[in-house]
Amino acid sequence: LDNGLMRTPPMGWLAWERYRCNTDCQNDPENCISEKLFMDMADRLSEDGWKELGYVYVNIDDCWSSMQRDGQGRLQADPKRFPGGIAKLARYVHDRGLKLGIYGDMGTHTCGGYPGTTLDKVQIDAQTFAEWGIDMLKLDGCYSNSTYQEQGYPMMSKALNATSRPIGYSCSWPAYQGGLPPKVNYTMLGEICNLWRNYDDIQDSWDSVLSIVDWFFNNQDELQPAAGPGQWNDPDMLIIGDFGLSMDQSRAQMALWGILAAPLFMSNDLRTISSGARAILQNKVAIAINQDPLGIQGKRLLKEKSGIEVFWRPLYKGASALVFVSRRSDMPYRYKTSLKTLNYTPGVYEVYDVFMERTVSTLKDSTEFVVSINPSGVVMWYLSPASDWQEEADSLRFSE
Ligand code: GLA
Repeated sequence: LDNGLMRTPPMGWLAWERYRCNTDCQNDPENCISEKLFMDMADRLSEDGWKELGYVYVNIDDCWSSMQRDGQGRLQADPKRFPGGIAKLARYVHDRGLKLGIYGDMGTHTCGGYPGTTLDKVQIDAQTFAEWGIDMLKLDGCYSNSTYQEQGYPMMSKALNATSRPIGYSCSWPAYQGGLPPKVNYTMLGEICNLWRNYDDIQDSWDSVLSIVDWFFNNQDELQPAAGPGQWNDPDMLIIGDFGLSMDQSRAQMALWGILAAPLFMSNDLRTISSGARAILQNKVAIAINQDPLGIQGKRLLKEKSGIEVFWRPLYKGASALVFVSRRSDMPYRYKTSLKTLNYTPGVYEVYDVFMERTVSTLKDSTEFVVSINPSGVVMWYLSPASDWQEEADSLRFSE
């Protein structure tokens, strides 16, 4: 969607995967869906180095609203859990240099059973969100059907635009239509939405990450061309910092979301996150790869019988990213290949290991090399064309 927003994949925090529809503020005040949760996360994003790295969205998901619309037919926040109201929460978030996202549903009810946005409510809801100072809307698709969605999603796009407040627009539409052409028209989605959920909800497990990764790369020929500045495929939230992933698996999610040019919405507890998970999420080069200005989504190049898979993404100024994933469960696997085998054009490349945080070597396309990949782990490389003097100095240094 050409609204000037999200020219690189949006980054921030989204409540759903970790906090779901926990409305029990009586017994679980720290973790229930309430204004306190979003204020806490806004504090953490602004004070713990996230904001400077680009994590600026604080996004509300389902179960924020009251069970009824107000006297004028407008959505309203649950008065017990959001006593200050959404407009005040938006001010709190904006005061910290962050943006506020909210959730709605193109249908009679949200997936959690809260009031949905029927066609007759599209305009008033867009206006309400704009008046509150909302910066992004995730529009889900429960309790509707394909003809309804076909009308509603473009209608909301127009209605948001008509408010003249810049509001990023996330559409869950394709996920409700199987995610693939011809049922899903990605050309049209790119014109009306900034991002869209294509597939199943992520859960807090490596299995879930793998099933999402498999689906996105098995269908890369259909999905990859749909992405670009202002329009992104969304494989769903980052679960790094939760309970389901090891450190290696966490690096794998971060690396693959970078290859996919995916939105980076963390769904975790930034108040208690471990330093290990934080380091992965705050890795500057991994973020730079995700945020590359060309916005070209990457691809899976190879799926080896050994259980090694190789992914690649072209980046600004002739640079690129390579990710080697191991789906083995025995021991670190020594994978031997060359850049030439991976379709690199003849030349010399400088190789930086993203998670080791150091330059590995300068590598000629034809030189064979070995990477050691941990079980359910990754090696992520950032490669850039080496300048001539480095070529001279380093091309002989790498031992075969
Ligand atoms: C759907 C969406 C999720 C989340 C829930 C909320 O399942 O795909 O991301 O928003 O609804 O109920």
